[in-house]
Amino acid sequence: MKVFIAGGRGRVGSRLADNLEAQGIEVVSGGLEDGIDVVSGRGLAEALVGVDTIVNVLSTPRFDAEGAISFFEGAIP
Ligand SMILES: NC(=O)c1ccc[n+]([C@@H]2O[C@H](COP(=O)([O-])OP(=O)(O)OC[C@H]3O[C@@H](n4cnc5c(N)ncnc54)[C@H](OP(=O)(O)O)[C@@H]3O)[C@@H](O)[C@H]2O)c1
Repeated sequence: MKVFIAGGRGRVGSRLADNLEAQGIEVVSGGLEDGIDVVSGRGLAEALVGVDTIVNVLSTPRFDAEGAISFFEGAIP
């Protein structure tokens, strides 16, 4: 089993990654630090090769309505 976590180095995503890895599940972390941008799609196709499940725990630094809505509507996973 291979799981892609969009936002896998964030507060929620990193805990999820630790839990899955402790159960022997392979985790691919998808965040800007990993060179993956889920809005532009940069690095996403390569990261999803062989992935069985996608979990989306993304967040955006923009909390205004326009910024938050455009981020979550634009995010690919
Ligand atoms: N924290 C809580 O207590 C809590 C409680 C309830 C619900 N939630 C929800 O859970 C979600 C995650 O929260 P969090 O606290 O874990 O957020 P967080 O720590 O800010 O993590 C957000 C993650 O999103 C990634 N990210 C942001 N923009 C990206 C982009 N364009 N492409 C790829 N990755 C991108 C970041 O990657 P980089 O680190 O590489 O920049 C980071 O790993 C949010 O929707 C939040 O509302 C959180």
